[in-house]
Amino acid sequence: MKFIIETYGCQMNVADSELITTILTNAGFTHTENIDEAQIIIFNTCSVRENAEKRVIGRITSEVSRKSYQNDLLVGIVGCMAQRLGEELKKINKKIDFVVGVDQYSQLPEIIETIRSAELRSAFRIPNSEFRTPNSTFISNTILDQAEIYNDLYPTRSNPLNAFITIMRGCNNFCTYCIVPFTRGRERSRPIKEILHEIELAGQYRAYDITLLGQNVNSYNFENNDFPDLLKKANEIESIKRIRFITSHPKDLSNKLIETMATCEKVCEHIHLPLQSGNNEILNKMNRKYTAEHYLNLIKKLRKAMPDIAITTDVIAGFPSEKEEQFLDTLNIMKEIQFDFAYMFKYSERSGTKAAEFEDSVPETTRLDRLQRLIDQQTEITTQKYKNKIGSIQEVYVECQSKRDSNEMSGKTRDFKITVFEGNESLIHQFVKVKIVDAVGWTLKGIKN
Ligand code: SAH
Ligand code: SF4
Ligand code: F3S
Repeated sequence: MKFIIETYGCQMNVADSELITTILTNAGFTHTENIDEAQIIIFNTCSVRENAEKRVIGRITSEVSRKSYQNDLLVGIVGCMAQRLGEELKKINKKIDFVVGVDQYSQLPEIIETIRSAELRSAFRIPNSEFRTPNSTFISNTILDQAEIYNDLYPTRSNPLNAFITIMRGCNNFCTYCIVPFTRGRERSRPIKEILHEIELAGQYRAYDITLLGQNVNSYNFENNDFPDLLKKANEIESIKRIRFITSHPKDLSNKLIETMATCEKVCEHIHLPLQSGNNEILNKMNRKYTAEHYLNLIKKLRKAMPDIAITTDVIAGFPSEKEEQFLDTLNIMKEIQFDFAYMFKYSERSGTKAAEFEDSVPETTRLDRLQRLIDQQTEITTQKYKNKIGSIQEVYVECQSKRDSNEMSGKTRDFKITVFEGNESLIHQFVKVKIVDAVGWTLKGIKN
């Protein structure tokens, strides 16, 4: 049986889709990229904002219609929406065959087999009483001690150049706007030995650029190894060349981490450090547990230790009760900090979170207006940040042919900027020194040095 997975949401879901691919392949299923030949379509979903959910519901509705001419098709929903909505998803669309939460992926082969055999039997009109009635919907409710960490499973890599390696699952922070602690359950760190082994393997498969994943990597802890300890050990692994990580929480970013980043040569000069808001009262209502001053101080320390470090962030416009002056604090701090890039969102209410109970919500038009002002300011800053690189020499990890020009190759700098330069496909997987001569939009142009 062939399966396809369509993935939404964050890198954690991308990594989970690779994990699911491994689990299903080990059980005898075959992965395909072609939806027309798939007998199982799996949607790996995201719940972080309402739009993310709407988009995937649209996709599910459109693909489920294949069932009218493809009798043997199974459609399953996994990921954060599956965890959040469970049975309700089947109300949204009755033709969904299975819903499996984020800690239940090991059971997928069994679930699919059960549904499949039930369907076969009903096709041959064997009465129900003669076989176990399948429960086609398996919902997980992230029971604490049963929460999976998927040890001993080394995912099939869908991307041969970069590897995303999960170091921890879940989140304990309960930022008041965020659904993730409810969909992903409590924080669990994976054993350090397993992570290091997975990194080693990734390098052997020539995925030289690895990204360590967790909702808050700064709180990684396994048998007294903290995150900097893990970075130091990863830095020793011969088979890889670059180490990145997402996401860091400002409340837990230690001096030890900054020092470790600066001294480990494989750890890239880039940090994604979500700010969320520049106003202390809003940060407090968000339950972020740091102040704007603390955040600014971290930026200062990071730049002192690594002058060329690229800093990227996430911010939310229009959190409940946010006043114009409070929003201006965000706009101003972003101007002061000059992020290389920012992911900017308008606040989206998620039922079940604490913020959903806050009464003084900001009107949608104001949220949109604030978001637009953030985007306008940041667009200029990002453009300037890229221009600042002109004249510098960068090490580019070559990934593919440029989409615009087949004589050009495309790759990324250590500080995560896409760079194109003249070259051919023999350079893929290589690290090439490039002199930056131009910045067009958010792409650097260079010549081989
Ligand atoms: N664990 C990471 C990222 C979590 S989700 C972290 O702590 O930063 C990614 C981003 O989505 C968040 O940083 C936040 O900016 C945004 N986000 C989360 N919930 C949101 C909501 N309800 N409305 C708008 N943006 C939200
Ligand atoms: Fe959500 Fe906060 Fe956890 Fe990030 S740290 S996943 S924003 S609750
Ligand atoms: Fe979305 Fe779940 Fe990631 S809600 S952002 S896919 S952890």
